[in-house]
Amino acid sequence: MDLSHSTFKELGRLIHRLCGIVITDDKEYLVRHRLEPLVISSGCRDFEHFLKKLASRDGVLLQEAIIEAITTQETSFFRDGHPFEALRRYVLPELVQSLQTMNAGTNRTIIRFWSSGAATGQEPYSLAILICDYLAAQRQCGIGVSDFSILATDISANSLAIATAAKYSRRNMDRGLSPDQVQKYFEQQGDCWALKSPPRQIVDFRRINLMHTCTGLGIFHVILCRNVLIYFDEDNRRKICEQFHAMLAPGGWLLLGSAENLYGINNSFRSLRFGDTILFQKS
Ligand SMILES: C[S@@+](CC[C@H](N)C(=O)[O-])C[C@H]1O[C@@H](n2cnc3c(N)ncnc32)[C@H](O)[C@@H]1O
Repeated sequence: MDLSHSTFKELGRLIHRLCGIVITDDKEYLVRHRLEPLVISSGCRDFEHFLKKLASRDGVLLQEAIIEAITTQETSFFRDGHPFEALRRYVLPELVQSLQTMNAGTNRTIIRFWSSGAATGQEPYSLAILICDYLAAQRQCGIGVSDFSILATDISANSLAIATAAKYSRRNMDRGLSPDQVQKYFEQQGDCWALKSPPRQIVDFRRINLMHTCTGLGIFHVILCRNVLIYFDEDNRRKICEQFHAMLAPGGWLLLGSAENLYGINNSFRSLRFGDTILFQKS
């Protein structure tokens, strides 16, 4: 199907406005590949006709469909491995210790994590499994799974529906989970594996567009934004990281993807290297 350069540019501007994703000239193939099925299913002759329909009353529904089609949901349990090892070895012990100190007073505090581009749920559930495994190994610490909560958000409603169902195929289970974790935390249901509670009950899902103001979500001790910022331009990366900074508790941690960093974007964090992982701490 034909896609003229001017229509491609207009679709690129719309996608950027909707979800912050930058469509550079070399992404013409991607736009054509991901949106062509949508052009056909919406009864349009071609991309030009599709653009006109976007400006009509049906436009809002089509915009939602564009978000679903253009976002990349690639993820896996314990993706990259080493960031979770850094959380287990350095961040969780520090958080548990500060929780013990705080709980010795009168106020009960919850340690809050935010997985801010959670896709189909493997990232927040990996965190929940990590917390359960960590606490099981520290029986005497006086801290339980319910002392933690994980907010998992994404712009994609389809991904969040999969995440909320918490059922995964064998192929997904084989990507990142140990046989021990499968046996301990999942229950086989037909040809799927369903996550049990705990760890499931400490994860809540919400649809959030990172292009919008998120400060109403409250304060977090750890924010993960992994493999999301790579799709945005510098200006939006800067704005999002400023929000993260404002939404972290003092001493809180920001974790980005392996190909992402804060250089030239935000210097209010100090970066700390733990093995292969760089963690950004709000000073
Ligand atoms: C490649 S996945 C990363 C998933 C997970 N964080 C990981 O590293 O495995 C990127 C996710 O970012 C989400 N996303 C893209 N733009 C977004 C936006 N503006 N607001 C919130 N989520 C967004 C996509 O829907 C997708 O689920």
